[in-house]
Amino acid sequence: MLIWVNLVVLSSFWVLIFSNPEGFLSLSCGGSSYTAAYNISWLSDNTYIETGNTTTVTYINGNSASSVPIRFFPDSRSRQCYKIPMSWKKDLSSVLIRATFVYRNYDSQNSPPAFQVSLGRRITTTVDLRTNDPWIEELVWPVNNDSVLLCLLAVKGRGIPVISSLEVRPLPLNAYRNSLEGSSNIILRRSYRINSGYTNGTIRYPSDPYDRIWDPDQNFAPFHGSSSFNRLTKLTSYNITENPPASVLETARILDSKDSLSYTLSLNTLGDYYIILYFAGILPLSASFDVTINNEVKQYDYSVTSSEVGSLYFTQKRISNLNITLGKIKFNPQVNALEVYEILQIPPEASSTTVSALKVIEQFTSQDLGWQDDPCTPLPWNHIECEGNRVTSLFLSQTNLRSISPTLGDLLDLKTLDLHNTSLTGAVQNLGSLKHLQKLNLSFNQLKYFGSELEDLVNLEVLDLQNNSLQGSVLETLGKLKKLRLLNLENNSLVGPLPQSLNRTGLEVRIMGNPCLSFSSLSCNNVSSTVDTPQVTIPINKKHKKQNRIVILLGVSGGALFATFLVFVFVSIYTRRQRKKERDITRAQLKMQNWNSSRIFSHKEIKSATRNFKEVIGRGSFGAVYRGKLPDGKEVAVKVRFDRTQLGADSFINEVQLLSQIRHQNLVSFEGFCYEPKQQILVYEYLPGGSLADHLYGPRSKRHSLNWVSRLKVAVDAAEGLDYLHNGSEPRIIHRDVKCSNILLDKEMNAKVSDFGLSKQFTKADASHVTTVVKGTAGYLDPEYYSTLQLTEKSDVYSFGVVLLELICGREPLTHSGSPDSFNLVLWARPNLQAGAFEIVDDILKDTFDPESMRKAASIAIRCVERDASGRPPIAEVLTQLKEAYTLQLSYLAAAAHTD
Ligand SMILES: *[C@@H]1O[C@H](CO)[C@@H](O)[C@H](O)[C@H]1NC(C)=O
Ligand SMILES: *[C@@H]1O[C@H](CO)[C@@H](O)[C@H](O)[C@H]1NC(C)=O
Ligand SMILES: *[C@@H]1O[C@H](CO)[C@@H](O)[C@H](O)[C@H]1NC(C)=O
Ligand SMILES: *[C@@H]1O[C@H](CO)[C@@H](O)[C@H](O)[C@H]1NC(C)=O
Ligand SMILES: *[C@@H]1O[C@H](CO)[C@@H](O)[C@H](O)[C@H]1NC(C)=O
Ligand SMILES: *[C@@H]1O[C@H](CO)[C@@H](O)[C@H](O)[C@H]1NC(C)=O
Ligand SMILES: *[C@@H]1O[C@H](CO)[C@@H](O)[C@H](O)[C@H]1NC(C)=O
Ligand SMILES: *[C@@H]1O[C@H](CO)[C@@H](O)[C@H](O)[C@H]1NC(C)=O
Repeated sequence: MLIWVNLVVLSSFWVLIFSNPEGFLSLSCGGSSYTAAYNISWLSDNTYIETGNTTTVTYINGNSASSVPIRFFPDSRSRQCYKIPMSWKKDLSSVLIRATFVYRNYDSQNSPPAFQVSLGRRITTTVDLRTNDPWIEELVWPVNNDSVLLCLLAVKGRGIPVISSLEVRPLPLNAYRNSLEGSSNIILRRSYRINSGYTNGTIRYPSDPYDRIWDPDQNFAPFHGSSSFNRLTKLTSYNITENPPASVLETARILDSKDSLSYTLSLNTLGDYYIILYFAGILPLSASFDVTINNEVKQYDYSVTSSEVGSLYFTQKRISNLNITLGKIKFNPQVNALEVYEILQIPPEASSTTVSALKVIEQFTSQDLGWQDDPCTPLPWNHIECEGNRVTSLFLSQTNLRSISPTLGDLLDLKTLDLHNTSLTGAVQNLGSLKHLQKLNLSFNQLKYFGSELEDLVNLEVLDLQNNSLQGSVLETLGKLKKLRLLNLENNSLVGPLPQSLNRTGLEVRIMGNPCLSFSSLSCNNVSSTVDTPQVTIPINKKHKKQNRIVILLGVSGGALFATFLVFVFVSIYTRRQRKKERDITRAQLKMQNWNSSRIFSHKEIKSATRNFKEVIGRGSFGAVYRGKLPDGKEVAVKVRFDRTQLGADSFINEVQLLSQIRHQNLVSFEGFCYEPKQQILVYEYLPGGSLADHLYGPRSKRHSLNWVSRLKVAVDAAEGLDYLHNGSEPRIIHRDVKCSNILLDKEMNAKVSDFGLSKQFTKADASHVTTVVKGTAGYLDPEYYSTLQLTEKSDVYSFGVVLLELICGREPLTHSGSPDSFNLVLWARPNLQAGAFEIVDDILKDTFDPESMRKAASIAIRCVERDASGRPPIAEVLTQLKEAYTLQLSYLAAAAHTD
């Protein structure tokens, strides 16, 4: 133990004193620390990487043999990373990272490996040691962080990655950025660094204090200048940001016998390249010439003045060959050095919404999936596929997810979602926001209900629900999925006729292994009633036995008599069942009647009020909402509970109970209900103004009707409603689904909160939170709630904060357009509003709001969406602040009217 501690202390000590010369970091991979020529101190790489085995390999280089340490990675991990620190030297804008890979048959297998190398988020190279051994890779990294990961990424079937050394060299401040667009997001990979006109070996440290390796000019032209060629001035000080060493500039390639001087260089990959030419006036004459790159004149009439130094920078896009030609104008064209780099764009990060959603999902799996850094780059995480920086596929089969968590609804780019065999129970839910989803595999789970969101998956092509516990009949609305090609419902407990909407060409419906499921309605009638509930099947089984006895008893005493008897038996069973059902219902109705004055409707009344469910006006958390008119002329909204089996009678009764206890002018009022077998219907007052979402995102004319003062009024009204739920009613109520489409407007634009389908009540005696399964709408969900499962009123405050941000910015909480950060309204708006950047305020409001009023509203909105629930204000305080903002805007308008 003691020895180990000592080692660690020692090695960090080495980092400090042996990083010689200043700012150099030289790692001997798999070797030990030592000091080499020119006092360059090499360190063992032990403290920079934790994986891999080490060995040494001896190889002959010219007539000297050398022993080279290497580190290789036989374990199956897909990436092996060095964490390279960047903070050890001040004023760094970029560093040169040089990695050397050596195979030299260290394993006696004679099979050189190939693998990829990544730096930060970018894969830079495929190293193929069959073509070069050793392979030297040089990368210019724009320092933007305390550290960067250099990783070796195994390629399947191509052997074990191996590395021999890693050198980091600070480069001159701002070097390699001239005329290079977006340079802070670019890695430069060296293709060529040529010391023109020089043939006697490489030049590096200490001649070049930055330890770049300048290669000799291999394709040496017959006519050339050199350091001995009539040099006038010793080049001591000059002003080029890249600061090439004087010894390199003191030689040049000079025009050959023809009229032009050319370099033709082949490039490994088709790509964009950055080219730097260095010139020094080492001749007594001042030459001038045109610079042509790949037949395009890039610089006309460039002059190299005697004893002066200059440089030219070019970028050349999509090339795989390079021809640099200097065409004579006056005297002999020359070039003293040149560098060519491949330009590698660093890919953008995945959106932070995606990353945090995935992190939460990883928690739900209760496994370490090894999800670190960026999900898509340099390599997608396990279980994930990406397109660019967008996560488009997620495969979590065989994990133990248990339910479809709302976080999945935040992965807006998903095209494929595979959750087969993940112990899912309950309903198919929380996926309605996945508009790009094409394949959804939920097979081999214990899902019971279709839920109401499948119909929103407009791009769905394959829906696999086989081997679940789905009950009841198949959703009519699945027919709305026009792109659906395959619907697999095999091995569920589904009954009844399949909706005709699913009988169409191009759609294959698999239905085997269900009690009774087919397109033809006739064959299923009887069976569907027998499998309805277990209580019903038991008496029929009993009767079966009796029947047998009767058959024996009666013998041949006549088929007709027997048939009559059977009919009698069945009728009496049926009526008994019906009576029992009716008794249950009446009991429930009576119970309900006792609570309140709300009315009980018969299904017939509802049917006639809605003219047979003719006009759909919206969708709530559990089903469609229809417009209706009662005989007394009162207009109502009729909410039909969708998929009756989904929630038992208990939950319906609870909702009715809850609804009938709350009355407030800013809550949509409850008129009554219908509770009959298979009919669970809620009747509300009808609000002709539609929802806030209709106004914010509907046609432009509607948006114009919402000026700043009316938006504040809506906000104040809704806050009043929530305040009543949180503090005014007993028991108190958490709404759980606050969002723009649940805030409705009446004729006078008074706002009312609606849809209590997910609401939960809690008494003051309850603890300060309720632990519960996460429900709600993607984009409005309190992040703390879905990571802790602790529900408090502050979750409503969060969702309401999102509504406030929508009112301010006129944007939906989750969208696809724009940069990755604008995906999420909260993440986008928060920093902008905090900085007082009111440019993000809805265009329609421009120049019509009082800045003070806006500031107040923005500030309360930001506090509502604090990640930490304890940092969010209670709704009462939100209400007070909004009222002040409203008053400010009113006086602003009054003042404006006065000056007019
Ligand atoms: C190497 O370092 C030692 C002590 O720091 C110094 O005496 C010596 O001159 C250095 N040698 C070179 C070549 O820089
Ligand atoms: C690598 O090291 C591990 C543990 O040190 C050892 O078990 C394994 O055999 C080694 N693999 C090779 C290929 O040398
Ligand atoms: C710096 O690195 C950390 C950890 O690797 C990462 O989370 C962060 O986004 C990086 N910052 C920048 C500016 O790239
Ligand atoms: C080449 O360099 C070596 C030392 O690196 C030197 O001894 C030799 O004289 C040089 N040759 C020429 C032609 O400059
Ligand atoms: C070096 O050149 C840059 C522009 O290329 C200029 O801004 C700077 O003043 C120059 N420095 C000296 C010391 O000449
Ligand atoms: C290089 O470009 C020059 C001028 O554009 C041309 O004359 C020459 O033939 C080219 N050389 C090669 C090898 O393509
Ligand atoms: C489901 O996963 C378990 C292990 O988690 C496995 O034993 C079983 O075979 C899997 N079933 C299917 C149908 O994939
Ligand atoms: C399916 O639709 C076709 C034509 O629309 C019809 O002929 C056929 O009978 C239907 N199949 C079933 C099983 O209802």
